[in-house]
Amino acid sequence: MTKNDLLSHIRKPIDDELHDFERLFDDSLSHTDGTLAMVLDYVRQRSGKRMRPMLTILMAKNFGSVNDTTYYAATALEMLHTASLIHDDVVDEADKRRGMKSVNLAYGNKVAVLAGDYIVSTALNIIAKTGSVEMVDVLSLLGSTLSRGEIKQLSVIGAQTISEQDYYDVINQKTASLFSTCAALGAMSAKATADEVRAARDFGHSIGMIFQIRDDIFDYYDTAEIGKPTGNDMREGKLTLPVIHVLLNQGDEEMMNIAMRVKKLVATPDEIARLVAYTKENSGIEYAQRKMESKGAEARNFIFQWVKDPALKEAFGAYLNYVIMRTL
Ligand code: IPE
Ligand code: IPE
Ligand code: MG
Ligand code: MG
Repeated sequence: MTKNDLLSHIRKPIDDELHDFERLFDDSLSHTDGTLAMVLDYVRQRSGKRMRPMLTILMAKNFGSVNDTTYYAATALEMLHTASLIHDDVVDEADKRRGMKSVNLAYGNKVAVLAGDYIVSTALNIIAKTGSVEMVDVLSLLGSTLSRGEIKQLSVIGAQTISEQDYYDVINQKTASLFSTCAALGAMSAKATADEVRAARDFGHSIGMIFQIRDDIFDYYDTAEIGKPTGNDMREGKLTLPVIHVLLNQGDEEMMNIAMRVKKLVATPDEIARLVAYTKENSGIEYAQRKMESKGAEARNFIFQWVKDPALKEAFGAYLNYVIMRTL
């Protein structure tokens, strides 16, 4: 099944709801003030894949029904995601996002940081409209977890040690926490029981871990299709699962020295190319794929146990397959 087939399978049972989400998202992310209006228009012009709102809406539908609270949650979460990408591109000095110039390249770092802050604050305002203190609590904690993840990533780069656990800790905080919250708030918005919310959260966690491992694999290849830079991670000092695994299991001193130079940001492009080739030759990518598969098995159990409606079962299955196999 192709990527587009998978995406349309995910959307099929929630197409109307996704349209309603889009309307609220666009309305909430508009402004009339000069520069701010211009930047927000720019951000809205190219939407992402909407993986997170799809998850929130699917969960709500699975455990009850989609309602105003679901839409507020989905909108606030997609905003937090959007702001984190705008800030991330400043930190990563990335020049491309969703196939267009990144906000920092188009408008400069100052505008990007400030517009990102505006979007985070707007997200808090939207979630407040649910009237649920618990939801405000969950969303604001998520905001701090995302920031902690990005900061931990910087300190992991600066530390002269290499650990698979550090990698998992970072991606849990910077990526999986967002997916698990999308799933949990979706379930909560439909008045799911505590057990159901917990199961939804765990599913979101597995999905998020898979999503970031997959994303990190992209960085080892030239894929123009993805709409953002590849090959950037090592240039930024970032070592991800494939190379971490190979380094820790091969005990090659020369490659370990190059990895340490990557972390100190002094490795040459030629050294980086050698480290990437070495990772591929020693099956680092396959190792990361096996990790995704085992997280995928946990996620499949959720679908088996908690999703009964056939159309939703198919949508959840397509969602999981997409996250594992995606090329975009
Ligand atoms: C990008 O997320 C950030 C990561 C967690 C790797 P997406 O790939 O979902 O970004 P958009 O929203 O579709 O652009
Ligand atoms: C993704 O970090 C997680 C975020 C919080 C934005 P990356 O730096 O790996 O994501 P991309 O590759 O720029 O989307
Ligand atoms: Mg980045
Ligand atoms: Mg980053």
